[in-house]
Amino acid sequence: MANEQEKGAAGRAAAKLVRDGDIVGLGTGSTAYFAVVALGERVKSGLKIIGIPTSVQTADLARQLGIPLTTLDEHPAIDITIDGADEVDPKLNLIKGGGGALLREKVVASASKRMVVVADSAKIVPVLGKFPLPVEVIPFARTVVEKKIVALGASPKLRTKPDGSPFLTDNGNQILDCSFGKIADPPALAVTLSNTPGIVEHGLFIGLASVALVGRGGRVEELRP
Ligand code: A5P
Repeated sequence: MANEQEKGAAGRAAAKLVRDGDIVGLGTGSTAYFAVVALGERVKSGLKIIGIPTSVQTADLARQLGIPLTTLDEHPAIDITIDGADEVDPKLNLIKGGGGALLREKVVASASKRMVVVADSAKIVPVLGKFPLPVEVIPFARTVVEKKIVALGASPKLRTKPDGSPFLTDNGNQILDCSFGKIADPPALAVTLSNTPGIVEHGLFIGLASVALVGRGGRVEELRP
């Protein structure tokens, strides 16, 4: 419950940063949800924005709220993106992908002038890696990638649906949740994973976040890299 309040406060604070005329990247997850809802309220009051959703789930929510949507083909430059995170370190390196939307989230973040991370206080960690790192793989390559991740010292676990079948991302790929333990050098691991054939994307977001708004008790803290 405390987390929900912190998530709500962070999400609403981030929605206030959006200006008239902005192209806005709309994140995915239970914290970004509060930002999207707050933006929907501002749109009803006259704010003119166009959103680029990072998932089918967020696109559905934005449509219900009356937020106009566009695509990266029509608007390849985004003014501001608001998105959640599973872990945030002191340099604002992130682990993302707990909700499975990491690929589109990273593309949208990389096309944004500013990425505002919204989080509850439990997401702030001194070192990334307690949260298993989501790695999106093409199904064809899964076993090969699993072996490479084991060789890096981690335990990969295929994400499944409640019926036991593999979870599929919005892009038709599978996710390996990889327990690395403490990640001593996130930028180096990010490069290694990005260079592994069969890995479409991984949940390490290095140097992409401009600011984090973190709900803590009744306040919202602002963290910068
Ligand atoms: C979605 O794929 C994720 O990257 C989310 O942004 C992340 O998992 C944070 O989600 P919550 O805000 O629900 O914790």
